[in-house]
Amino acid sequence: MTTDTRPLESPERLRADMVATLIERGSIQSPEVEAAFAAVPRERFAPEAAPSAAYSAMDVVITKRNAEGKATSSISAPWLQAEMLEAAQLTRGARVLEIGSGGYNAALIAEIVGPEGLVVTVDIDPFVTERASRFLTSTGYPHVKVVLGDAEHAVGEFGPYDAVLVTVGAWDCPWGHLLAPGGRMVVPLRFHGLTRSITFVRDGDRFVGLDPTVCGFVPIQGAGEHQEQVAALGDGAVTLTLDGGPVLDATALDLALADDPAELWTGVVVAGDEPFDTLHQWLATVDTTFGLIWQDPGRDSKPAKPAVHWSCPALITSGSFAYLIKREAPRDAKTDKVHHEFGIHGHGRHGAELAHRLAAHIQTWERDWRHHPGPQFTLYPADAAVPAPAIGRIFPKRHTQLVMAWT
Ligand SMILES: C[S@@+](CC[C@H](N)C(=O)[O-])C[C@H]1O[C@@H](n2cnc3c(N)ncnc32)[C@H](O)[C@@H]1O
Repeated sequence: MTTDTRPLESPERLRADMVATLIERGSIQSPEVEAAFAAVPRERFAPEAAPSAAYSAMDVVITKRNAEGKATSSISAPWLQAEMLEAAQLTRGARVLEIGSGGYNAALIAEIVGPEGLVVTVDIDPFVTERASRFLTSTGYPHVKVVLGDAEHAVGEFGPYDAVLVTVGAWDCPWGHLLAPGGRMVVPLRFHGLTRSITFVRDGDRFVGLDPTVCGFVPIQGAGEHQEQVAALGDGAVTLTLDGGPVLDATALDLALADDPAELWTGVVVAGDEPFDTLHQWLATVDTTFGLIWQDPGRDSKPAKPAVHWSCPALITSGSFAYLIKREAPRDAKTDKVHHEFGIHGHGRHGAELAHRLAAHIQTWERDWRHHPGPQFTLYPADAAVPAPAIGRIFPKRHTQLVMAWT
């Protein structure tokens, strides 16, 4: 029973409830991060949202969209902000660079590092920097330095920093040189269509990655922008995305989707609530045609049957593709939990062949990696001689090389 007598919809009550939720789900772990979330009035940084929406622990507030309706700026979800702040291990007096502004997260950082610390936040969009400055001033954080600019040409003048927090989906990571010795860099890094927030700690000239967390962020703009291939099929109901790989023929893929698929079942059974994001990372390691399929849940027409709404694995070639489906499997006798068997639908001339290949990858993952914590990520400078991992892959980027090693 709660003893809180404040009105249910009051920002103070909503804030206290959000903090309680973040502690309960383990996103907040330290008293410092808890105190910051309890102090900063999130609703004042997201005036476009109702206070109840602004204080939803799991949801972002979108603050700007481009001409195509895609979000280009948002106030990130509290659970992810809390986990990234915990990962950064900020201390009082620390010097912190935030890439991608909004104001709210910079205020949280300012609370943690205190007036003796330094917070610099940079954003490419004047709409974002103008409102972030205004909100920070009016809520009591006028000392946060808000900088307008493309973070690709980074903000070295106030560095080195004890922490760099990147709050935009980055394909590369040109910020390592801004870190002070012992500093931490938390980056939602995109590789082969996947985004994982990874905490990097310096080890000589390389950065060792810790705690990869599945997340989504608006993509970086400007000089660091990276285009993936996108094919809209079934009148836009289904989207395929592929990073690199063969050039997609959207017309051929659309015709392929209209045909009956080749169907096969893998014998791999997972519990309904079991995360399987290491499967995505395994597929990104072993197959350059690994991509994602997404079906718009808002459409009446549902020409595909992806196993999951978001980030459903697929293998995609120029005119054929195969993707993950699922069917109900017998419940676990002890726990009575819902279980699913993974299967594959293959479309197009090479659909059946791709379906067999995807099934084989899934069976290898099941045998060798399903109960494994996942690959080790390490970031090296672009010109470093990097030892090839025995099992793994090197993703060459403009400034760095991201190594994913399964050990
Ligand atoms: C998710 S929002 C940042 C959220 C914010 N830190 C908060 O308080 O929740 C991502 C921001 O990154 C910005 N951005 C995109 N590309 C950028 C770039 N190259 N340099 C700096 N900012 C960039 C966008 O304009 C957008 O405002």
